[in-house]
Amino acid sequence: MNRAKHIAIVMDGNGRWAELQGKKRVKGHEAGAKVVKKVTTYCANHEDIERLTLYAFSTENWKRPRLEVEFLMKLLEKYLRNELPTYLENNIRFEPIGDIRAFSKSLQRTIKDVKEKTAHCDGLVQSLALNYGAHDEILRAINKIKTSSENITEAMLSNALDCKHNVDLLIRTGGDHRLSNFLLWQSAYAELFFCDTLWPDFETKDLEQIIKKFTKIERRFGGLK
Ligand code: FPP
Repeated sequence: MNRAKHIAIVMDGNGRWAELQGKKRVKGHEAGAKVVKKVTTYCANHEDIERLTLYAFSTENWKRPRLEVEFLMKLLEKYLRNELPTYLENNIRFEPIGDIRAFSKSLQRTIKDVKEKTAHCDGLVQSLALNYGAHDEILRAINKIKTSSENITEAMLSNALDCKHNVDLLIRTGGDHRLSNFLLWQSAYAELFFCDTLWPDFETKDLEQIIKKFTKIERRFGGLK
């Protein structure tokens, strides 16, 4: 049986969820943050899951209206400040990925603070992808190692990425069937699950069902049975 050691999620559908209820899009992000907490806590208490990587803000999300971007930044900062006890109580290590230099100094400090204060936790590793794009991650990795005169190997590149771990199970909520520049290198052999549920409606029982299906899939990694 497969173990879903590394789960990655594209949390899509916040805006539509809010609009369907006649609310402003940002209300969907607020509701989505609550699901982040629930899903993270569930994963922290699941014996198979070692890593959970969540797409929280992409390198493309800067194109959204200024007010929505500002709201997302404030929400992230609030989430990280408020949920530090949740990280610690559940032994969760916070390891952000992405290029956070584009964020405000205050948000960067909060990110670093939660990272440092949870560095000793040896349970689930929760990575929030923040100002993250797989193309940007790969380019930054290449630029880090290109000074060496050796040929770049797969291991060298993999080690230079923000996320150095292959994804076992990649889930996208919200009905679209695309990867949107998320963990492209690490998902080479990931099993992909797309569900129509909008992220604020996603429940731990939905995740449980997906994991159950995942455990039964025959993964061949390009080989034969
Ligand atoms: C996609 O929904 C979601 C995002 C761009 C941001 C994800 C953010 C959260 C889940 C909440 C905040 C996160 C944390 C960690 C506190 P969308 O706005 O693209 O939805 P749509 O496709 O319906 O428009």
